[in-house]
Amino acid sequence: MSPKTVETTTAPAAGELPEHVLKFIEQTRLLPHPESYLIAVLQMLQKHFGYLPAKSLDTVSQLMQIPSAKVTGVATFYHFFTFVPKGKHTISVCLGTACYVKGAGILVDRLKEMLGVEVGAASKDGLFTLEVARCVGACALAPVVIVDDKVYANVKPDELVKILSKYGYKPK
Ligand code: FES
Repeated sequence: MSPKTVETTTAPAAGELPEHVLKFIEQTRLLPHPESYLIAVLQMLQKHFGYLPAKSLDTVSQLMQIPSAKVTGVATFYHFFTFVPKGKHTISVCLGTACYVKGAGILVDRLKEMLGVEVGAASKDGLFTLEVARCVGACALAPVVIVDDKVYANVKPDELVKILSKYGYKPK
């Protein structure tokens, strides 16, 4: 009777990655320096999921044979990668000097209260992510709030409910 082989390694959970990303990783294996495609893979994942799920990063690390600390390091280095799910709409409050002196900080506080979130997080209903930005180059319109790609100028705290209602916000 032949001895049984005991499998001790865990196979990469390929199911954590979408099919097109798996195919791409497979293609990179045939190329010189496949590890140099890590950023491209992360961009594809972020586009697919809207953020970088931890489990997917583990799978990328295994499939591309790149240490997970390096994968995480690259993902945290670039500000356009995010590790938390994004809301359907992104609200960005400019905190540049011109906007700040005209009350942008108060707008941020009011939005935090309205949405029940901290900066960088998504509201529980998944509708909004609250972010802050540096000068967006529209100082004459300060304070400025941008929702997705629409710019709102000279925003007053009391106007926020009306603005967000256009995107599905329902006051509690
Ligand atoms: S400081 Fe806000 S647009 Fe310039």
